Amino acid sequence: MKTDRTGGTPPYFNIDPDAALEALGTPTDTAGFGAIAQACDRGRQDLAGRGLEEDGRRSLRLFSTWEITRYLIPVAQGHFRRVLKQNPDLPQGRSETEGGAKWFTLDEVLRLRAHFAAEGSKAKNYLPWRPEGQPAKIVAVANFKGGVGKTSTAAHLAMSAALDGYRVLVVDLDSQGSMTSIFGGKVADEWQTVFPLLARHYAQHLRGENQRRLDRGEAPQPLDDTLTEALKAKASDLVQPTHWPNIDLIGAQLNLYWAEFQIPVWRIQGRGWKLWDALGEGLEADGLLDAYDIIFVDTPPALGYLTINGLAAADIVLVPLGASFLEFDSTGRFFDMLHSTFASIEEAENMAARALGRAELSFEWDAVRAVITRYDGMQQAELAALMQSYLGQTLSPHRQDFTALIGQAGEQVQGIYEADYRDFNRETYARGRETFDETYAAFKRLLLGAWRRDELAAREAAE
Ligand SMILES: Nc1ncnc2c1ncn2[C@@H]1O[C@H](COP(=O)(O)OP(=O)(O)O)[C@@H](O)[C@H]1O
Ligand SMILES: [Mg+2]
Repeated sequence: MKTDRTGGTPPYFNIDPDAALEALGTPTDTAGFGAIAQACDRGRQDLAGRGLEEDGRRSLRLFSTWEITRYLIPVAQGHFRRVLKQNPDLPQGRSETEGGAKWFTLDEVLRLRAHFAAEGSKAKNYLPWRPEGQPAKIVAVANFKGGVGKTSTAAHLAMSAALDGYRVLVVDLDSQGSMTSIFGGKVADEWQTVFPLLARHYAQHLRGENQRRLDRGEAPQPLDDTLTEALKAKASDLVQPTHWPNIDLIGAQLNLYWAEFQIPVWRIQGRGWKLWDALGEGLEADGLLDAYDIIFVDTPPALGYLTINGLAAADIVLVPLGASFLEFDSTGRFFDMLHSTFASIEEAENMAARALGRAELSFEWDAVRAVITRYDGMQQAELAALMQSYLGQTLSPHRQDFTALIGQAGEQVQGIYEADYRDFNRETYARGRETFDETYAAFKRLLLGAWRRDELAAREAAE
């Protein structure tokens, strides 16, 4: 409705109660929420369907010779073409026009990279480094403030790492399921999320307790249907492939939120249950730390039980925040909450541990870094410099620029790495991509440094 602004009157003057009543509509009841939700769902399906293939699956774009030799495999274009010509068995790509640029699927890029790694110069690293015998690194992206760039950062890091040649698993702990949407995941209910892994961890704890109860001549606590079902769960059954050949997903949807109510109930029943270990131990027990190189965990904007599990499982913690006073302020509070949460877990555990003469619990992370996201150098340089001076090494040196390439991609959820550079001015594309490449490079330094530390420690232990 257009407000009459004649005479410069503010829009909230002269509102007529009768006209307001007429515009108001009928009161909303609980069923009203249901109707609104259904309308949103229909719209969502419409939008989500637009980017899909006929079989309802999402597909990844192709990669050109220019992009491959510029960003993905360290070879000159001429050499790349010669090697392809000399090896007709290698993927040859396809072109849209006679003699036009050649385009490859990511699967083909991965095969080409493996070929160059086997045949090419030993001096170049065609394959990304991971020390032999060391498990995958788990990376949690967390901040209890919403909208700071957690999901964007985690998704782009996952895609960068996949383009770099790592095998990536993405775990969505946010029941809003944004990460799941980005990767086109289909999740029917909580049984296709991490929920069964958490439930299984508690069920196994309860079984152990019951054995001790029987030994003492006490009655065991019965396992309910949920827990009995959870004992059959396997992490590999929860993992779904995505449109990226080397990114898999454990998705989330609304029902996962139930875990926030269920976990404390279990904890009251089983006081000795180490609830914070449930996710990490679940992923480890089912061999996912061998099957993947990096596991990215996207967390909800809250420090609930799911986030605590993600953080406790993590080797590397990234905390995105914008260079604004409010985000700096609330991120400080987030670190304060992390401190008190993990300190209180350690304290409670260690009282028992000391009494029993057992080793004490002490959480440790390879690296914890705050990452500035959506950075605007024109407006935020001063605040960013102030944050840098107070946070020191904890603040990652690279500031991820605000870029118009993401976020407003319209009807499809898309990352920079999924966008076709021909849709943009090449300069705009290169700048937008560069800032996310730098975000990845800063992360990769942490990853390789942490893996090297583990490798050296393992070597020393073996001597
Ligand atoms: N570097 C960036 N440039 C521009 N927009 C961004 C950038 N990073 C994130 N955004 C946008 O900011 C919004 C919030 O990001 P999101 O990753 O969903 O945050 P969170 O997961 O913390 O709630 C989204 O609309 C996203 O597209
Ligand atoms: Mg998010």
